[in-house]
Amino acid sequence: TKPLVYVTRKLAREVIDELREVAAVEVWEEDRPCPREVFLQKAEQAEALLTMLTDRVDEELLTRAQNLKVVANMAVGYDNIDAEAAKKRGVTVTNTPDVLTEATADLTFALLMATARRITEANRFLLAGEWTSWSPNLLAGQNVYHSTLGIIGMGRIGEAVARRAQGFGMKILYHNRRPKPESEERVGAGYRQLDDLLRESDYVVMLTPLTPETRQMMGEREFSLMKPTAVFINVSRGGTVDEEALYRALAEKKIWAAGLDVFQKEPVPMDHPLLTLPNVVALPHIGSATYQTRLEMAKLAAANIRAVLEGKEPVTPV
Ligand code: GLV
Ligand code: GLV
Repeated sequence: TKPLVYVTRKLAREVIDELREVAAVEVWEEDRPCPREVFLQKAEQAEALLTMLTDRVDEELLTRAQNLKVVANMAVGYDNIDAEAAKKRGVTVTNTPDVLTEATADLTFALLMATARRITEANRFLLAGEWTSWSPNLLAGQNVYHSTLGIIGMGRIGEAVARRAQGFGMKILYHNRRPKPESEERVGAGYRQLDDLLRESDYVVMLTPLTPETRQMMGEREFSLMKPTAVFINVSRGGTVDEEALYRALAEKKIWAAGLDVFQKEPVPMDHPLLTLPNVVALPHIGSATYQTRLEMAKLAAANIRAVLEGKEPVTPV
């Protein structure tokens, strides 16, 4: 009998067909995350799981999933998966790097510009019928061109954001645990200690994965180092930020604005204080959301599953 692959969201027919060549495939067809109980039951039978970032793969699941060989996450981040626990059990974990780099960098830049130039606020203003005259400082924002960009977590997406920033004549700084001379060479970025990056940057862009070390790495102390005209952009994971500290920094005008594609709790509760501020541009975790990129991500996740089920090396193991 063919091994079972469980896919936790409806994906393109061609991706499912590709998997059906080597496996029996079951799909959670509803347009909402697969309920925990269903996910656990399917995991007990499956040799492969094709997961979303909303699915938690933890000790409990891995203990029950005795036949499991591979978890292919359809995301570059995999903080939803206990990768250590999987490794101990010999379960391969894969993600979808590279294919989403450029689309995510586009969204990052869109969010940066929307925040700097108050695009969503201006649109709400016009639609509310408040546009009564042109005025010198009406909806004035911050310069993007020739400003200083500080990237926290310089990886593939960081470099792609930096390439876009070059076109705007921006000075590019970055912070990583260790300097990355290759990135410095490729995109002309300068390494800074975190505090110096926060002090010097006009735009601070979070791109670091969520790990125990980066959890809540942006807190009250960090926001207090930023310029009062600076903008904070988060496109990594909400868990990297102390949201209460961010709210206070924005409300007390310690920083100028924030663009957020990710939140500690997703979907973000509609009564979240950050959503009450006019200087916050909030998006529903759409960093990689283009039709082309999402198809490439699904295909790569499926290719990883096929490789493992056929006894080959996975394409993009974590
Ligand atoms: C999305 O957030 C991803 O990690 O791919
Ligand atoms: C603005 O529209 C200008 O012409 O400066």
